[in-house]
Amino acid sequence: MPRPSALDELMRRLTANDIAIIPGALETVRSNDTNHRYRQSSDFYYLTGYDEPEAIAVIRPAHEEHPYILFVRPRDAEKEVWDGERAGVEGAKEIYGADEAFPIAEFEAKLPELLTGRSNLIYRLGTHPNLDQNVIKHLALLRAMTRKGIVAPLTVTDTATVIHEMRVTKTDDELKLIERAAQISAEAHVAAMKAIKPGMYEYEVEALVEYVFRKNGCDAASYGSIVGGGNNATVLHYVRNDRELKDGDLVLLDAGAEYKSYAGDITRTFPVNGKFTEAQREIYELVLEAQTACVAGVRPGISMDELYNLSVEILTAGMIRLGLLEGDAAKLIEEGAHKKFYMHKLGHFIGMDVHDVGAYYRDGKPRPLEAGIVVTIEPGLYISQEAENVPDKYRGIGVRIEDNVVVTTEGGRVLTGDVPKSVEEIEALMGGAKANAAH
Ligand code: GLY
Ligand code: MN
Ligand code: MN
Repeated sequence: MPRPSALDELMRRLTANDIAIIPGALETVRSNDTNHRYRQSSDFYYLTGYDEPEAIAVIRPAHEEHPYILFVRPRDAEKEVWDGERAGVEGAKEIYGADEAFPIAEFEAKLPELLTGRSNLIYRLGTHPNLDQNVIKHLALLRAMTRKGIVAPLTVTDTATVIHEMRVTKTDDELKLIERAAQISAEAHVAAMKAIKPGMYEYEVEALVEYVFRKNGCDAASYGSIVGGGNNATVLHYVRNDRELKDGDLVLLDAGAEYKSYAGDITRTFPVNGKFTEAQREIYELVLEAQTACVAGVRPGISMDELYNLSVEILTAGMIRLGLLEGDAAKLIEEGAHKKFYMHKLGHFIGMDVHDVGAYYRDGKPRPLEAGIVVTIEPGLYISQEAENVPDKYRGIGVRIEDNVVVTTEGGRVLTGDVPKSVEEIEALMGGAKANAAH
């Protein structure tokens, strides 16, 4: 893993007065002495490519000898027998391209010397409480010495201002990885559509899509897969995935693969038995109308808020048509009446984090999209069993349709187009109505 080009780009963007301290992710306990599978922090991995816990990167562009230092776990023969090989201090330099490297245990002792001479510290407070304590302590000690002519950081700037702004527009190399994550996610959705039958359990679908992710070399799903049959589809963050899929119900599948640290994020909603009922089709085609219009609207210069407003217009008009809302469209939109059935926003940036970093607003105004930003477009309608004043036939129907779209200079390019979306395509792939024959 050579030194990522993002590190050099960051060096170019920082000034001689800056020092950036970027910690890696810590291990997190799953139960007792067993940890969750380790996942490096996205900022840290983006800049360093280094994938072990207990590491800190220090970047000082104006330092003549060592502008880039890594603090890492040292080699340890005994521990490596249990937990696998470590790159160690030498590897941090030789493999990962650090100009200098030290054991992580030496970080605090070196901190005063690192901070001295820089007037601005780039650091995110609030994610690593122990490190925060150290940084604050040494900032205060150094600041007390400024009377003696010592230069110490008087400002602390959040990582978001520079690193997240770099991450929001993707390079061509990043786009290749995102595209692959999208393709694998699409392959998993197609496999699920082909396999689902009445009588299967939601967790079987979860296992199937995550098998496709792993089979293609993905580390994991990029978030907890959502498999909601029937009314469960109306619960936005349903992750229990423990119920039986019933003949005559829809199933909402929201699942995406993480490929080499880049996320896919697809939602499809389809009939468990392969054939939409009339009522399901009415809701589905309305969401699809909004989704395709918003996907077609993606281009540089438009904001996610403008696209959201477009989805609200289409969904509100359609809900009046279907008898879910009553009244004048403009007035209903002004009142936000759609939020009863469409309670989330249209989508989000996607990249190393599924809900990726980057500012959605600038100076209080919605940020116009730019080429290289990747977004999700994912409108939905959710009519729970308990919804009041709705036609009975629509109760228990939840539909979301989600694609990943990269903004290009010409418009938007859909990365997740390999999964069918129209009623006809879905029914054709699923082979029409399937008997209740899974178990
Ligand atoms: N599954 C998370 C999302 O769609 O945003
Ligand atoms: Mn999703
Ligand atoms: Mn999403």
